[in-house]
Amino acid sequence: MYKDKKVVFSGVQPSGTLTIGNYLGAISNFKKFSDDYRCYYCVVDMHAITVRQNPAELRRRTYETLALYMACGLDPAKNVLFVQSHVSGHAELGWILDCYTMFGELGRMTQFKDKSAKNADNINAGLFTYPTLMAADILLYQTDLVPVGADQKQHLELARDIAMRFNGIYGDTFVVPEGYIPQNAAKIMSLAEPTKKMSKSDENENAVVRILDPRDVILRKFKRAVTDSGSEVRRGEGKDGVENLMSIYSAFTGKTMDEIEREFDGRGYGDFKAAVGEACADKLTPIQDEFNRLMADKAYLEKVMAEGAREAAHDTLRTMSKVRRKVGFTEMPRY
Ligand code: TYM
Repeated sequence: MYKDKKVVFSGVQPSGTLTIGNYLGAISNFKKFSDDYRCYYCVVDMHAITVRQNPAELRRRTYETLALYMACGLDPAKNVLFVQSHVSGHAELGWILDCYTMFGELGRMTQFKDKSAKNADNINAGLFTYPTLMAADILLYQTDLVPVGADQKQHLELARDIAMRFNGIYGDTFVVPEGYIPQNAAKIMSLAEPTKKMSKSDENENAVVRILDPRDVILRKFKRAVTDSGSEVRRGEGKDGVENLMSIYSAFTGKTMDEIEREFDGRGYGDFKAAVGEACADKLTPIQDEFNRLMADKAYLEKVMAEGAREAAHDTLRTMSKVRRKVGFTEMPRY
């Protein structure tokens, strides 16, 4: 193996303003790998266009997502931060892997089923083959570890299956990646319907807390969060709403679920919801300040993008050339 460090890869779609689900389930974990791994964190704009986007908004969100990566503590000197569409290997390998992925496999993906139900007027081929592009993202860098939320588990399994299938046909080509799914905040639920995932594209603003929401909005959204007709802050049957708030509080404060139950024993939901809101806002305020500072310096963001793309593109060359040779393409002429 030519690499000297293990590799981490993850991506976030710039398809909406990011939520605390994205933060707690994924981005807040990215930083811990920066010292010991070669880390690639990508803004996956090509994935975002599987659902119709407003072009100006997509561009703005691409900058925002990159700025949020940095505001959440990812130093561009220690991590390769880049935009997917700037590195052509993603699309190239995506196509090749399409030819090693079965129609039936893609049809079983629950996210495809959910998204095609939500976008019934635009069930395009890209939405269907989305997981193959995601496999390409990961396999292109010989990734060992993929930090993601629980909703990406099925896609990750497919990436592993594709890698093993390809390796089985052509001999060792790809590292078979492992997922890194946090124990605590793997699936943050909607505040309005706590049996549903919190999603950045939710149309009900009260269902989602966004990383960029101001403090008063955060406090208000938690105050309105759906709980149940009881009053006890504890886990249990029919207490999905409370349990979700407890997970959020736990992830922001580092307290265990048992500690939280003890802390709010006999205190009721009002106190508890206010505390969750405060803990969340306290954590997000410095991130928002840094985000605003970065967004004011577009030239700097463009420099980070350019440097990230250059490094990432360079690192894809060896794998792409190996894959091309293995599947039987003739050598790329110089032109
Ligand atoms: P995306 O943009 O939907 O979400 C980005 C990350 O946030 C996690 N996440 C959550 N975690 C906990 N609770 C939630 N409610 C919640 N909502 C989202 C997601 O699991 C994800 O880690 N397909 C991916 C993007 C992608 C990717 C990749 C990820 C494309 N290529 C390669 C890893 C490796 C997606 O749609 O994420």
